[in-house]
Amino acid sequence: MSDTTIQIFDTTLRDGEQVPGCKLDTKQKLIIAEQLDILGVDVIEAGFPVSSPGDFKSVEAISKMVKNATVCGLTRAVKKDIEVAAEALRFAKKPRIHTGIGTSDSHIKYKFNSNKDDILHRAFEAVKYAKSFVEDVEFYAEDAGRTDNEFLARVCEQAIKAGATVLNIPDTTGYCLPSEYGAKIKYLKENVKGIEHAILSCHCHNDLGLATANSIEGIINGARQIECTINGIGERAGNTALEEVVMILKQHPYLNLDTGINTKMLYSTSQLVQQSMGMIVQPNKAIVGENAFAHSSGIHQDGVIKNRETYEIIDPAEVGVTESSIVLTARSGRAALAYRAKNVGYNLTKIELDDLYPQFLKFADHHKEVNNEDLHHLMELNHIVKTNIHI
Ligand code: KIV
Ligand code: ZN
Repeated sequence: MSDTTIQIFDTTLRDGEQVPGCKLDTKQKLIIAEQLDILGVDVIEAGFPVSSPGDFKSVEAISKMVKNATVCGLTRAVKKDIEVAAEALRFAKKPRIHTGIGTSDSHIKYKFNSNKDDILHRAFEAVKYAKSFVEDVEFYAEDAGRTDNEFLARVCEQAIKAGATVLNIPDTTGYCLPSEYGAKIKYLKENVKGIEHAILSCHCHNDLGLATANSIEGIINGARQIECTINGIGERAGNTALEEVVMILKQHPYLNLDTGINTKMLYSTSQLVQQSMGMIVQPNKAIVGENAFAHSSGIHQDGVIKNRETYEIIDPAEVGVTESSIVLTARSGRAALAYRAKNVGYNLTKIELDDLYPQFLKFADHHKEVNNEDLHHLMELNHIVKTNIHI
């Protein structure tokens, strides 16, 4: 793997599916896993096999079906979890066990009623045991975002000593600021003995709306994997959105960091996940939201009609959206009205446009949006016929 390649670890089917109401059956999971594989993700976290017979079955079926990506199963630092995950992953071409333990003071005290030495020991043993089943073992330090860096470095060293190939540094509670999270990754890069034997991974939650920013700061500071979900779904406020980090790297080539994602499939993948999980994407969601390429104010519409780049940094075709949309509302100007009228077959003259515009505004003031049917009606009222030829 080149040092400029960022591995995309998709956890839509694990962290994403943990969301209430998002439960999928094996068939639905297989369809999404196949789409993710074609999309070009490097790792598919297919589930948490010990959690239920259904999840076991899904991870097993996905392992059999996936052609390119690594298939990963989550475990706690518990022998039984690791054994069950190894069994569910036995058909995978490239299996990975993802094991780990909470490392923050609050996890150590309240979750485990334990102490730091015990956590170091359990981390080592879990990775060592997982390593007896598969070569590729990822270790997560849960709540790493609130774990003191010095202790976190010691935990990472134990995981590397036991053979971990990837070290996941989750901001489980979405607490960190980008500068803080970036500094954490930098600290680990500089202070963990043996770090050259593993790659660091960002796993950021979105409780403060910073998941994407934190993940980007993480890779700028040396991490080489991002854990993310389609549409940013996940526990509470969700995870880092795959489509956002991928497009950030594409739009900022000077960072010299890239992914293997076929961006033209982002919109269809988003739609598939939205429909399967019944989890509606907010209209103003970056990259894949309904309004991500829609323009409604007159000034913006005029600019985009003259040249798309005046108000768009991404060509919608790059992410699989057919075209930018000009939404007709009471904020639209003459340029937008003429443009949309032309799209439905009316080449308006300047005089027609001047006559029509006040009527259009009057109508638009009483409606949220003016659609194609409304436009036809307006033309009919004004005796304007389709495909006017102007000299
Ligand atoms: O957020 C988190 O800490 C996780 C781990 C289980 C990887 O999802
Ligand atoms: Zn998580």
